[in-house]
Formats: sequence, C-alpha cells, structure tokens
Amino acid sequence: MPKINQKFKQKLSSLVVFSTLLATLAACSNGSSEHTTEKPQPLLAEKITAITVTPENWPKQQSPIKRIPEQEAKIAALLAKMTLEEKVGQVIQADIASITPQEAGKYNLGSVLNGGSSAPNGDIHAPPQEWLKLADQFYQASTDTSDGGVGIPLLWGIDAVHGNNNVVGATLFPHNIGLGAANDPDLMRKIGEITAKEILVVGIDWTFAPTLAVVQNDKWGRTYESYSENPAIVASFAGPLVEGIQGKVNTDKFLSQEHLLANVKHFLGDGGTQNGKDQGDSIVSEAAMRDIHGAGYPPAIQHGAQVVMASFNSWHGRKMHGSREMLNDILVERLGFDGLVVGDWNGHGQVAGCSNVSCPQAFNAGLDMFMAPDSWKGLYQNTLKQVKSGEISMARLDEAVSRVLRVKLRAGLFDAKLPSKRSYAGKFELLSSKEHKAVAREAVRKSLVLLKNNNQLLPLSANSKVLVAGGGAHNIGQQSGGWTLSWQGTGNKNSHFPKGESIYQGIQKAVHAAGGQVELSESGEFETQPDVAIVVFGEQPYAEFQGDVADLDYKPTADLALLTSLKQQGIPTVTVFLSGRGMWVNPELNASDAFVAAWLPGSEGGGVADLLFKDAQDNVQYDFSGRLSFSWPASPLDVELNIGDENYQPLFAYGYGLSVKDQQNLELLSEAVDPAVSQVNDQRFLFAGDPVQPWRLVLNDSGGNTQVSASSQASSLSKLLVQATDHQAQEDVIEATWQGVANLLIQGNPIDLTAKTQSGMALAFNYKVLKQQATKVTLSMGCGADCIGELDITSALKSKLSQGWQQANLALNCFAKAGSNMEKVDIPFMLAADSGLTIQLSEVKIVEPENTESCEL
Ligand code: BGC
Ligand code: BGC
Repeated sequence: MPKINQKFKQKLSSLVVFSTLLATLAACSNGSSEHTTEKPQPLLAEKITAITVTPENWPKQQSPIKRIPEQEAKIAALLAKMTLEEKVGQVIQADIASITPQEAGKYNLGSVLNGGSSAPNGDIHAPPQEWLKLADQFYQASTDTSDGGVGIPLLWGIDAVHGNNNVVGATLFPHNIGLGAANDPDLMRKIGEITAKEILVVGIDWTFAPTLAVVQNDKWGRTYESYSENPAIVASFAGPLVEGIQGKVNTDKFLSQEHLLANVKHFLGDGGTQNGKDQGDSIVSEAAMRDIHGAGYPPAIQHGAQVVMASFNSWHGRKMHGSREMLNDILVERLGFDGLVVGDWNGHGQVAGCSNVSCPQAFNAGLDMFMAPDSWKGLYQNTLKQVKSGEISMARLDEAVSRVLRVKLRAGLFDAKLPSKRSYAGKFELLSSKEHKAVAREAVRKSLVLLKNNNQLLPLSANSKVLVAGGGAHNIGQQSGGWTLSWQGTGNKNSHFPKGESIYQGIQKAVHAAGGQVELSESGEFETQPDVAIVVFGEQPYAEFQGDVADLDYKPTADLALLTSLKQQGIPTVTVFLSGRGMWVNPELNASDAFVAAWLPGSEGGGVADLLFKDAQDNVQYDFSGRLSFSWPASPLDVELNIGDENYQPLFAYGYGLSVKDQQNLELLSEAVDPAVSQVNDQRFLFAGDPVQPWRLVLNDSGGNTQVSASSQASSLSKLLVQATDHQAQEDVIEATWQGVANLLIQGNPIDLTAKTQSGMALAFNYKVLKQQATKVTLSMGCGADCIGELDITSALKSKLSQGWQQANLALNCFAKAGSNMEKVDIPFMLAADSGLTIQLSEVKIVEPENTESCEL
C-alpha cells in the first residue's frame, strides 16, 4: 500500500467535502435534493418573451347585433361635428371622487365611474336620492351645449358585483363563488335583472360585472369574484347573466328602460396569474388562455355584452392593456366583439413605457376608453397631444369614439331623459324589495355547501335551545365581504344595512317561530345549557390584492378554541364558515359535528337558517343543494388544485356537497401542518399587521424578549409599545413607539435565503413614519449577534417623516454585504432604535426587486 503523506490526505478529504458540496448545490438548484427531474424555476434574470397568438386557434364569431344604418349615420354625423378635444374627452373615464360634473362637461368626458369607495359627497352612506341627484348633475353637464359643443351624454359605471353593493339599502347577493356552488344559470338571469333595476333606481347606466375569471390559484384575493375553477360553469353563466342585465339581444327588451350595460371582465387571464398574484403574470399556454380563462367570453359576446374590461395582468410578461393581439386581433376580429373596450383602474399606466397620464400604446392596441380615475386630466392633455403629433392616428381615435358612441346609442342614451326622469329612477322601494330579497335568499340557500354532517345533526329542530356564537354570527358586513359599501368592505356595521339580516337574526326568527330559545354570544357564553351551538366565523372582508394570501391555512385560532370548549361541554357544534375561498380548516372541521361552507352570502343571512333548521312543524324545509365549484384543499399548500389535475387529491373534490339525507360521517382529519408551509412563509413575514405563521413578532429590551400576542403590547421594561391600528382594513397595521432602547423583531426557525439573495430578491415592507427623534435607527437581518447585517436608516427615516405610506425595497444582498449570514436567517427583520421613533408597518416580505440593487430606503 502506498504511503500517503499527511498533507495529501488532508487535501484529499477537503476535495471529497468540496465535491459533495458541489453535488448538493447542484441538486438544490433543481429545487429538491431527490427529485432531480423537476424543472428548475425560471431565473429572474431570464427574459420572458411574449407568447405569439395564433388567431386561427380562436373561435370565429360574428357580433349577434346587426349594425343599424340610422345609428351608423348618426355616428358619422356626430364625428363630423365633434372637435378633436370632444373626441379625446369621449375616450376617457374619470372617478367621481376626482372630478366635478362641471369639469366632466367642460372636458366632454365620455364617462365617469365610482370606484369601490367613491360615492356622492364622499359619503359611502349617502342615501340613494344623492346618487340620483349626482347622476342628474353629470348628465346635465355632459349634455349642455351652451359652449357650442355637441353635448354627448356621459355614461356612469359602477361595480355592482353582488347586487348594487355601493348603495345603502340595496339587496346584496352572495359573492360569485357562492353562486358557482349554486350552479343555476336561470337564477343568474334573475340576479342580473334585479341588479339592473336596483342600479336604475339611482340613475346609473353601466355595471362593471360580471367577472368571468376562472381562478386557478386560490391565493388570489379575487377568488370569491370567480364562479368556479371550472370554465364550464363560468361559460354557462355568462349568457344568462349578461342577458339578465342587458335584456335579450335582437328583442325590444335589449337595453330597454329596465336594463343597462353589462361589462365582462377582466380580459384576459386574470385568474391564471403565477402564484395567484393580483395583477400578476399569467404564464399559461394559448390553449389555456382560450379554453380556461377565455371560456366565458364567446357566450357573453353572443349574448350581446357591450363592454369588455381589459385586465391588469400580463401574459408571458406583457400587459393585457398593451396587447393589440388580444384586444384587437382576438377580441374584436375573432370573437366578434362590437362594443367598447374599457381599461381597468389606471391599468394603462402599467404598460411598458407608459404612465397613468400617458399611454398611446394602450390606445393604439385597442383600448377604446381609459379608466383614468384620478389621472384623467393629464391623460386627456397628453392624449390630445399624441393625436396632434400623429402618435395616435385620427383613424384610431375615430374608431374608438365610434365604438363609444355606438354603445351609447344602443343604450338609448341619446333619447334617454335626465336620469331622474327615466322609468325606474327614484323607485327606491325596489332596493331590497320583498321580491328581490326573496331571490337573494334563494341564492343563499342554493349556495351553501354541507361539508360535514356527522350523525345527521342537520337539519336541527327549531324548537330547541340554540346558542349562536362566533364573530360572524351577527355581522352583516363580514357575511357580505369586500365590495360592500366600500372597496374593501371593512368597517361596516349592521346599522349600515337597514334592510339586511344577519345570520343570527335569521336563526332567531326561525327558532322563535317554533317556540325555541336563542342566545347570542360572540364568545360562546350562555345562561341556559344549549342543545346545540351554531358558530359563525371566517375571513374578514377584503378586495383585490389586499386579499392575496401566502397559503390557504385559516389562521385565527380563537374560533377553534371556542369550538373545542363547546365540544368539551358536550354541546353539539355546527360551524357556518364565511370565506371567499376554500381554506385549510381541518382542526375546525374536527371540532365541528356539522360544517357548512357558506361563502359570502350577502345581506340575506336568513337563507342560512332555512337550511339549518326544520320548520315549526319539524318538517325538513330545504335540503342542501350547493356543490363545490372549487376544489377544497387537503393542505394549506393546495393553492393550485383544480378539477382535472393529475394527482388530484383534494380534501373535498369539485362537485362535493352532502344532502341532509346522506348518512356519511367524516372521520377525524389529520391536523398536521405540512412542514413546507413554513418554507412558503419564508416569503412573507408580516401580513396585514400580523406575523405570518410560523413567524413571531417579538419585542426586546434590556428586560428580555416578549412575544406579541395581543393587539396592544409593551416590551418587558416598556421601552417599546406596539399597537394594532387601522389603515385600509381593521387592525391591518402595527404601530410601534420607542420610549427607550429596544428592538422590534420578526423571529422564527432559520431559513436559507442564499438562493433568493443570489437571484436579486429584495426585502420589502410598507411603513409610515409618524415621529423620528431617535438618535440611531438600524434595520437588520440575520441570525444572532455575530451574523447580523445592519443598515443605518436613521436619517432616511427622518426624511420620510409625515410623508405618508412608503414602500421599502432593499436587496437582500445589502444585508449579506453588511455581514448577515443568509444561509440561516432566523430574524428576517429587526428594527433597533432608541426613544423617539414611532413607525407604522403593514407588511414585510421578500419580493422581486423593484429596480437595480438598492440599499437605500
Ligand atoms: C378592478 C375592477 C373594477 C375597477 C373599478 C379595478 O381595480 O380591477 O374590477 O371594476 O377597479 O372599481
Ligand atoms: C379599486 C377601486 C378603489 C380604489 C381605491 C382600485 O383598485 O378598483 O374601486 O376605489 O382602488 O384606491
């Protein structure tokens, strides 16, 4: 045996170590050390090239509406009379919060909208009379020809997405996810008809509904706006709903006095974004775009939908608002769309090279009307310039204006009288009329899905002692979700729904009618031992990106504790779960004898009691007929779980739902949380003011560490105080005040951030500086004393004082360079300061970098 000298031996062993390391690294870069066949994730730096569209692959249809020679002649005559300024005005829509009727008249704007939180006099509780009055003012200003203009009546658009939800007293239907579970296209027609009437009473012309998104990833905050993950349901609803709102095409009902303009949205691929990110990028094939996301559009167009809204999302890196292939070649040329294409809320500003006030690209791509809520004036001026300079051709402008005018002519706007003089105007008794409420209640009954009914606990005998508990029990705001009076739907009180009914109120009526007893206690206390407890809880209201989540785990723990304590007292429990998506609730399912997925039922909470109880004579009145239109997750990570998937393993499959006749007991489910959940959460540490599990928010001063567990808390020696406060939603922000030397940190098990650091990812957080007199403030990331990377942000914070909400975006590499060991970060975020700093924080997460690497706040 040859002699190996000591030195060589050492060298050899280090080589072995090195090569194993290399092998491990190589395996890791494939995303897993075992499954080396897995495709690597595309690198951030990799250029995404837009997919090419093949129009021949898309259905070829004709518009069902024949052009009428008299209308076409009128359009031509108007175009001939209009000034350039008047034409440009027609292709712009402003928000009523940012424009007066006089300005709309002066600039000849084609349209106004009220965004989710805009209302007459800035009052979201304005009575219906005020809406109608404002509609008159806008109409009058637009048709005023005293300045020598042609005076084209403007259109007002509103997000009546579950009933005329911005107007106090309107009937609120279940959000779309519940209607998908009801799966009743005829009901959709009725809902469309009723919603149209409740909009017409306040003199408005156009609703930004229905949404035809076919959501594939339920992390998306707009999952509840989607009828189903199955394109077949969405396609079957599109026609009846459009018809309900607009009336049947080619009949005298079409856009008659009892109908108005429908608007299908968001074209196209809104429900297909990567990671379910709102306004994100849909990296899907052309076939998926057509067959999944596009499924609702051909029928909607065949039924005469007059408006299509372009979507915020991109398709393989290109924004829809700038895609001529999609807006023109597919939508207009192939699908035969003959109405107007409107943009989404400053959506044009996201097109490469555009801003909110300038985007000839979107207009040239085929957008006929910009939604420019607060940016309308600048956009008007720039668009005018761009037509003058030829950047936008006169032909394109004329085409867009013709489309706007054609829709207005079809809607009868030129012959319509002042909004308050139209046939349905002012009939406020129609808002939540008995007949409308009955249909909404029917919709609630049809939308509920019974997931568990052990020992056939449901339906209950109404002549019993019933405890009603949980934060959602007597809370019409929570049961109605987002897009309710305000955009986010937060902060609503029962008194804001003068004609609505909470779930508790419905139960109370049913039980009292049968001679039973009801006690309401949110926290589950009772005076009389109940026969049964109904616990109502679930998600708090949200809309759009504010509803995006990292996983589907239902995080609050108080409801589970309540269910468990009731169970321990021998009380049978029925859960009524309010949510805008299927969620991982295995522990809550285990702690309930019966479990109902109630979605977001809207103002008619009484529909819930119809199903939970037998009638006063103890006969079954209604059975559960709702069936899941979205697959229910078996794990918090089943975010992209859809019917037809390979290895489809939901907890409850698409189409599932029990009948009260089913004798089917659900065994105890596993409550183990997939360890990968924490890996997902290495992306997001603080969300809506709360640490994202398993991360903890910790306060540290010389007295030691204190984990934050209440909405208001102090560090051990009170050097640091934190308190939950409201920004866009209830308690969605934490406010931290330093009264001495202390640290605010987010802490958890170590995560390896090296790959993210190398790919250029950044630490992002939203903050607002209320006070900055601390002598030193540092921001750091790391893993304890000797591997922490620290950035001095003392003066940067000072400069942001009283500047409102800010978004920080700091490359992870900044922390690496400052000495943080990115391999085992257990403190992804730490703010250290001394007395005099008050700062609010809402979100802390790891994101793709905004610009080039920056280590400046
Ligand atoms: C939403 C649309 C909505 C519009 C007007 C946008 O942010 O994406 O669905 O119609 O705002 O409120
Ligand atoms: C929503 C509007 C809302 C606004 C508030 C938009 O994205 O679509 O309806 O009022 O944001 O900032």
